[in-house]
Amino acid sequence: MRAAVLGGGPGGLYFAISLKLRDPAHEVVVVERNRPGDTFGWGVVLSDETLTNLRANDPESAELIRGSFAYWDDIAVHYRGTTVRSGGHGFCGISRKRLLNILQDRAAALGVELRFETEVQDLTAFAGYDLIVGADGVNSRVRAAYADVFKPDIDVRACKYIWLGTHQKFDDAFTFIFEETPHGWIWAHAYQFDADTATFIVECSERTWRNFGFDRMSADETIVTCEKLFAAYLGGNSLMSNAKHLRGSAWLNFNRVLCERWSYRNIVLLGDAAATAHFSVGSGSKLAMESAIALANYIQSEPDLAAAFRRYEDERRLEVLRLQNAARNSTEWFEDVERYLHLDPVQFNYSLLTRSQRISHENLRQRDAEWLSGAEKWFEQQATGRRPNRARPPMFVPFRVRGLELVNRVCVSPMAQYRAVDGTPNDWHFVHYAERAKGGAGMVFTEMTCVSAIGRISTGCTGLYSEEHEQAWKRLVDFVHAETEAKIAIQLGHSGLKGSTQLGWETPDAPLIEQNWEVIGPSCVPWSPDNQTPREMTKGDIDKVGEEFVRAAEMANRAGFDWLELHYAHGYLMSSFITPLTNKRTDEYGGSLENRMRFPLEVFHAVRKVWPDEKPISVRISAHDWVGPNGIQPQDAVAISRMLAEQGVDLVDVSAGQTTVDARPVYGRMFQTPFSDRIRNEVGIGTLAVGNIYEPDHVNSILMAGRADLVCLGRPHLADPYWTLHAAADLRYEGVAWPKPYWRGRDQLNRLKSRAEVMTGKV
Ligand SMILES: Cc1cc2nc3c(=O)[nH]c(=O)nc-3n(C[C@H](O)[C@H](O)[C@H](O)COP(=O)(O)OP(=O)(O)OC[C@H]3O[C@@H](n4cnc5c(N)ncnc54)[C@H](O)[C@@H]3O)c2cc1C
Ligand SMILES: Cc1cc2nc3c(=O)[nH]c(=O)nc-3n(C[C@H](O)[C@H](O)[C@H](O)COP(=O)(O)O)c2cc1C
Repeated sequence: MRAAVLGGGPGGLYFAISLKLRDPAHEVVVVERNRPGDTFGWGVVLSDETLTNLRANDPESAELIRGSFAYWDDIAVHYRGTTVRSGGHGFCGISRKRLLNILQDRAAALGVELRFETEVQDLTAFAGYDLIVGADGVNSRVRAAYADVFKPDIDVRACKYIWLGTHQKFDDAFTFIFEETPHGWIWAHAYQFDADTATFIVECSERTWRNFGFDRMSADETIVTCEKLFAAYLGGNSLMSNAKHLRGSAWLNFNRVLCERWSYRNIVLLGDAAATAHFSVGSGSKLAMESAIALANYIQSEPDLAAAFRRYEDERRLEVLRLQNAARNSTEWFEDVERYLHLDPVQFNYSLLTRSQRISHENLRQRDAEWLSGAEKWFEQQATGRRPNRARPPMFVPFRVRGLELVNRVCVSPMAQYRAVDGTPNDWHFVHYAERAKGGAGMVFTEMTCVSAIGRISTGCTGLYSEEHEQAWKRLVDFVHAETEAKIAIQLGHSGLKGSTQLGWETPDAPLIEQNWEVIGPSCVPWSPDNQTPREMTKGDIDKVGEEFVRAAEMANRAGFDWLELHYAHGYLMSSFITPLTNKRTDEYGGSLENRMRFPLEVFHAVRKVWPDEKPISVRISAHDWVGPNGIQPQDAVAISRMLAEQGVDLVDVSAGQTTVDARPVYGRMFQTPFSDRIRNEVGIGTLAVGNIYEPDHVNSILMAGRADLVCLGRPHLADPYWTLHAAADLRYEGVAWPKPYWRGRDQLNRLKSRAEVMTGKV
């Protein structure tokens, strides 16, 4: 086979090597515009895992690469005059130039023809080749030539960065330096890659970049400015650029590239040309080189190029998506870093280390148990004012708000049971909620409990609009208080235009088969074409619903509830006022966000007046309508939360969606937590995170990173009422209270866990 590899970066060179290794008869040429020693970067990070893959493919070059590695274990973060250092991270770095030289020599030794200083203008010169590999990097000309086929999605990210080098030693830790300046924050990622050189990437927001005037500076002026900025860390060493051949100031925006197709006829894309991964997860060279192995493998094993390309793309696309997901989290963290710059250095460091969501709480414990234990103690000290002798997982640290203390930070999320008759909770509810309160959660939310009969979603919904309801709830609340350490919260709501619908396990949100009641809403906009069109509420209706909320709050207080949550999410009445999708009013309750929030805020004020001062109120919102700019977006959720905070709401319970049938949500692990993070850290109000959070590790990471104050778990509590007790056993934390009659079961469970740890060599 005659193969032309266009681009002699790590991807192209390693593919040429891999193909030759599989069949020396292949004729392979690598065409590269630069000279052998030229390179735009300084050092690259590779992991041990990548090196193992390289060794399996070509032990000879792998050994040379390993021999050139600089190793370090720690991450050091300089921030607000402190340095926080944690260990166990295990990196190795190599100079990009050295890596390329090793690969160039190896390729040449295997008989690959290397054509340097040759610019590829178009593909006509390669017409006679059987295979053309577009390994020409992020600005690939091969990709551009067939852009209509490859369909690249190029996302130009917000921050500005410049890739520099220095002879200052950063050989004891991968180092992040965050500097506050009158022009804004600017930071550096620094790591050693050979005996006397380190990479020094400087990054900042576009605003800071302009404030500094970097947009008008030459590369040399930029360097002088950066040297002054980071002088305290450079020990008199200068910064160096080797990208002076680039146009302008050499500052770049990172381009996230992902192509819809990676091949066309006999042309295939490889490395950055096909897909990129942000430099803050240090995996672009790894991706390119591992893709090179896969492509060479399939070209060897498959009967024709089409089959080889198919298998290559299937395998590598999955890996790319996984990495791009982590890289996106990491990119966004740096883009939004100003949101976190109020955090204490310990929490800031934790947030930085866990930014990609690839490293969890327990991963950090494996890396550096001592550091994590210190961080856990810090977390507890913030909450209780006392530094404990022994650390405990963040989820088991008490939470205090107003006059209430929760024993831990796990909540049973509100979940409709559809088992009530005429709004009255019955034995089902008693057993269901009592079990969950016994199960160790710090607080149990009731399902959305409706303030009137027509405010119910279905005929099975619970209510708080009669003496009978109040008494039934009181019986449950009394039991929870007498027999458990849990607190119990009532969630109050009104169904609005999503009322008069079927039970959760029938056709949810579809109208009743018969005996529908009239539904009301802000405007005559039905939930779906199959639902009733709501009657537009008059001022009289608005006042009446407000009074119903107040009446229900008074009943909830008499029943003894500890906490009240107003349900302003999921498309029910209050939510339908907030979102412009269903609120089309032209009076003072419609139009601007301020107007759309008027009714929800009026209700909050009225309820707050009758709800005792020592008891908290939270508000659940939908932070995203998932329909783009026509609906609520996360930035609107910040504005909503700011209004709630200003009016005295204690915490925002951050849910999302269910406000329109047109929603296109993006699901995933902890998928709503970023909204909670943003609200908590931009507005400065406490939050509850919810949504696909199901492992103790998730809960601890969210809390420790300051992404929420409390964590609600819904479905996990349907599957396991004792989720919290079981989490404690899994984490080997014994400070959680089991009901006395269950102590023998607790002891056996703990014994079994200890034994399992011994058997698996964990202790
Ligand atoms: C600031 C920064 C830091 C990074 N840090 C790391 C890290 O620590 N670890 C890591 O794994 N990755 C890192 N990366 C990513 C990594 O550099 C790339 O992902 C990797 O180089 C991709 O390899 P490639 O072979 O696909 O492309 P490239 O390395 O970009 O190689 C493409 C080659 O094609 C040549 N070329 C392009 N067009 C033409 C043309 N028309 N004619 C002839 N030749 C052409 C170029 O000169 C170049 O040599 C970083 C990237 C940046 C921007
Ligand atoms: C059966 C069921 C009923 C629910 N009812 C309510 C409710 O009454 N009020 C509410 O705010 N959310 C309700 N939700 C949403 C949950 O509180 C929670 O936000 C959602 O299930 C996501 O969390 P999870 O992934 O932990 O389940 C319900 C969810 C389920 C599964």
